[in-house]
Amino acid sequence: MDKQWWKESVVYQIYPRSFYDSNGDGIGDIKGIISKLDYLTELGINVVWLSPVYESPNDDNGYDISDYKAIMDDFGTMEDWDQLLDEMHKRGIKLVMDLVVNHTSDEHHWFAESRSSKDNPYRDYYIWRPGKGDEPPTDWIASFGGSAWEYDKKTDEYFLHMFSRKQPDLNWENEQVRQDVYEMMRFWLDKGVDGFRMDVINMISKKEILPSCDAYQKGDAEAEAYQFNLPGVHDYLREMNEEVLSKYDIMTVGECPKVTPEEAIKYTAVERQELNMVFQFEHMGLDKHKGRPKWELKELELRDLKNNLSKWQEELANSGWNSLYWSNHDQPRTVSRFGDDTHYHRESATMLATLLHMMKGTPYIYQGEEIGMTNIHFDSIEDYRDIETLNHYREMVEEKGMRPVDIMPAIYVKSRDNARTPMQWSAEEKAGFTTGTPWIDVNPNYQNINVEQALEDKDSIFHYYKKLIQLRRQHEVIVYGKYQLLDADHPSVFAYERELNGDQLIVICNFYGEETTFDLGNRKAAEVVISNYANELPASDEIKLRPYEAIVYRLDNNSRM
Ligand code: NOJ
Repeated sequence: MDKQWWKESVVYQIYPRSFYDSNGDGIGDIKGIISKLDYLTELGINVVWLSPVYESPNDDNGYDISDYKAIMDDFGTMEDWDQLLDEMHKRGIKLVMDLVVNHTSDEHHWFAESRSSKDNPYRDYYIWRPGKGDEPPTDWIASFGGSAWEYDKKTDEYFLHMFSRKQPDLNWENEQVRQDVYEMMRFWLDKGVDGFRMDVINMISKKEILPSCDAYQKGDAEAEAYQFNLPGVHDYLREMNEEVLSKYDIMTVGECPKVTPEEAIKYTAVERQELNMVFQFEHMGLDKHKGRPKWELKELELRDLKNNLSKWQEELANSGWNSLYWSNHDQPRTVSRFGDDTHYHRESATMLATLLHMMKGTPYIYQGEEIGMTNIHFDSIEDYRDIETLNHYREMVEEKGMRPVDIMPAIYVKSRDNARTPMQWSAEEKAGFTTGTPWIDVNPNYQNINVEQALEDKDSIFHYYKKLIQLRRQHEVIVYGKYQLLDADHPSVFAYERELNGDQLIVICNFYGEETTFDLGNRKAAEVVISNYANELPASDEIKLRPYEAIVYRLDNNSRM
């Protein structure tokens, strides 16, 4: 058993813009985070992943960086950041920074140089190609819509941007780019950061881009083969590991869209010396039509979720390591997405938490998830701020002539702004997030869903998360135990066992709002470890489950896995 601190940790993600505003300008900031660290201590997490706080023109809320070694004015100063790290370390909380190096902002000085002339020393820091006549070099599409190529008049060439046109992709083939990135990473590591979450890191190598790389007409799979998980990514990560990561006791998690378990093992197997874990997206794609954009909604099938999460548990059982998450700043709120935020808010939020936190891997909690924050419905598109949402709306309404009423339902379900409304601290005006006008409006349900109220109520979602986090510290089986799915065909229950050196847990989750039953077989429960309803030991093998009920039993040693 390869024990590591990052396997035993629970991570909390902070999206700084929306966390807490200390100076009344309507934007969350670093001083705001410092003032809330005791809250995080109370919750019990021991690692924070901080979304970007670097200098940025904010085309994509900080994921477009114009200076990797400076702090964005909106968020404060480098002194504030130093104090944040210090205050976190004093409380035993580690800090993982976001590393966004697939692309920079077009306002980064490297890009300003690069676009200035074809023979500028920085020209080759980015990916420039001549067009095909009046057309872009290839038919690649950017994640936020439109061509992935932007024409630049000055030198009569196109540059590649897999995200917005203000996020040009770096050319990782250029050794000088890699060395500059490594040097920047050392800058932060030498300041004492405890790791990196690496933004779309499996996209840093692109296949040699030729006109024949037209991809979409050949289908999505073909396009992906040019853009994701190319062998070069592994070469770069091994080099990065050797030159930088291996020199520090840190954790690394790579954001890897389109990654399969087989690929994930390549990134995370210890002997390959690349990363500790990846964020995979397969379970996040189960409520859309396969191969279609995220806006094309489909009801989640429990069977698909069971198969998928179990596949990841099993395939990474002996090699590699899983990250466990339901939400982040790009995903809708879990309780609205997979639970019932109206009739069974507490029950479904805690059931989902149980299901995830009892699995093998490192759990991630996204700010507000621990109090059951929900999706937002703004009546007007004017109130949305996210570039992906706004581009989608524009494309559908202005270019494709669709009616707003036909577009908004998917935005309500999937917009990234669902996760970005301000953290709800109290029932005070603006949810206690700011004394000014928030950069994005607060969710009106803050009167009922907020931290102050959650802390007071011993039965709240918050206190349930706190307990789940403590359990992970108390029971090694939760961290390192073997996973086995039970009753794969049960239509409404997701159940599994965990086992380590004879210590066994059974996790039983009713995924829906109707009552159901579950057969324990000949297992004997010895103790209720946690449950979101008042529960005692079962009187018979067949247990009745109430809406969204979750129970974890420790099993008697004589029960078999
Ligand atoms: C993934 C990040 O999580 C997302 O917020 C961002 O828009 C893209 N990468 C581009 O950096």
